[in-house]
Amino acid sequence: MKVLILGIDGYIGWPLALRLLERGHSVSGADNFITRKRVKEVSSDSVLPIPSFSKRTEDLERSMKRKVRFHRGDVSNPDFMYEIISGEKPDAVVHLAEQRSAPYSMLGLKQASETMYKNTISTMNLLYAIKDVTPESHILKLGTMGEYGTPNIDIPEGFFEIEFRGRKDTLPFPKNAGSWYHWTKVHDSNNLMFANRVWGTRITDVMQGVVYGTRTSDITSDDRFTRFDIDEVWGTALNRFCAQAVIGLPITPYGKGGQTRGFLSLEDSITCLTLGIEKPPEKGEYRVFNQFDQHYSVGELARKVKEVYEREYSRKAVIENVPNPRVEKEEHYYNPESKKLRSMGYKPEGNLEKDLIRIMEDLNRYGGRIEKLKKVIMPRTIWKKSSGITH
Ligand SMILES: NC(=O)c1ccc[n+]([C@@H]2O[C@H](COP(=O)([O-])OP(=O)(O)OC[C@H]3O[C@@H](n4cnc5c(N)ncnc54)[C@H](O)[C@@H]3O)[C@@H](O)[C@H]2O)c1
Repeated sequence: MKVLILGIDGYIGWPLALRLLERGHSVSGADNFITRKRVKEVSSDSVLPIPSFSKRTEDLERSMKRKVRFHRGDVSNPDFMYEIISGEKPDAVVHLAEQRSAPYSMLGLKQASETMYKNTISTMNLLYAIKDVTPESHILKLGTMGEYGTPNIDIPEGFFEIEFRGRKDTLPFPKNAGSWYHWTKVHDSNNLMFANRVWGTRITDVMQGVVYGTRTSDITSDDRFTRFDIDEVWGTALNRFCAQAVIGLPITPYGKGGQTRGFLSLEDSITCLTLGIEKPPEKGEYRVFNQFDQHYSVGELARKVKEVYEREYSRKAVIENVPNPRVEKEEHYYNPESKKLRSMGYKPEGNLEKDLIRIMEDLNRYGGRIEKLKKVIMPRTIWKKSSGITH
C-alpha cells in the first residue's frame, strides 16, 4: 500500500513509518519540523536524542534498504497539500501533522489562534485535496479521547442512540473538550464527518488516548529512537512521571489526581494505526475508533511509577500533588467504550508494569539530559491566566 504520513518526524509518525516499512508498505512523509522548533522555544528538548530527519532516513536506507520519500513543508498551506497529494497519489494518508500541545494552545491569543487555524485548516486542505485528486484514498486522522471530555455517562465510539420527547435517532456523541487544542480536534471531527456526508470520502477518525513509552518492536537500537518530551508544555503525564522518578524529583500529579483518561503504549498505538490502514473503511464510510487500552487516574499512574521505581532501583520516590494549572474535574465518572479495533483483531500488547520498567531503563541512561530540563518540568501555563495581551 502507498501510505503518506503527514507529521512523519513526530513521536508517533516516526515509529509508524518504521512499522509500515517493516510490513512492506511504500512510505512517504511530510513535516515542517515545527515540533522540534517549538520545543526548543520553551528551552526544552527531546530527552531521547534524535537525529535530524535526513540522518534518520539515511540510516534506514543503510539498515533496511528502504527509502522514504520526504516533502518538507507546512500542511496548512493548500498549495503544498495539493502538491504532495498529486505527487504521491497515496492509498492512505495518516494525518498527524497538527499542533498537539494543550498547554501551548492555552498560552495566549496568538498560540490559541495559531492552533485553531493550523489544525483545522490542515484538515480542510487534506479533505479538499483528496476529494479533487484521489477521491478513493483513505484519510486516517488523529483526534483525541479528550474531545469527549468527562461526561457523567458512558462514552460510546463516536455515535449513540438517543431518545428525546418520544423520538429516537443515532447521533454523534456530544463533545466537551478541555483546551483550545482539544476543541480543534472536535472541529476537525465535525469537518471530517461533513466531508464524508457530501463527498463520500473514506475516513477513520481516531479518538486516541494519551500515548506513553520509549519503544516499539521496530525501535531496536538507540539511533531509531523517537522523540520523548517531558516539559510542562510538550510532555505528557506518564512520560513525565517516569523522568521525574529517574532523577529523584518528586512525581507531580496535578490537583487531586483523580483526573481519569484512556492511555495506551506507543507499541499499541502503532499497532492500531497500522490495522486501521491495512483494513480501510468501505467506500463512503466514516468510522470512529476510541483508541486506548486502559483508563487510569493520574494519581494511580503516579503511584504505579513510584512503586515500580522503588522496586527496580531500590531508591525512594516521592509523590507531590501540585496546584492544577488546568481547569478540569479532578474527580469524576469515566467509562469510555473501545470495541471496534478489538473486533477487527487488535490485541493489546501493553503491560503497564513491563512498559514502565523499559521506559525507566531507557531514561536512566539519559539522566544527564533530564537534569538539564529540570527547570521546564513544573507547570507554568495556567489555563485561567491565558491572555491575549501578555503573549
Ligand atoms: N502523543 C499523544 O499522546 C497523542 C494523543 C492523542 C492524539 N495525538 C495526536 O496525534 C498526532 C501526532 O502526535 P505526536 O505526539 O506524534 O505529535 P508530534 O508533535 O510529536 O508530531 C507531529 C508532527 O507533525 C509536524 N507538524 C505539526 N504541524 C505541522 C504542519 N502544519 N505542517 C507540517 N508538519 C507539521 C511536527 O513537526 C511533528 O513532527 C497529533 O495530531 C496529536 O494531536 C497524540
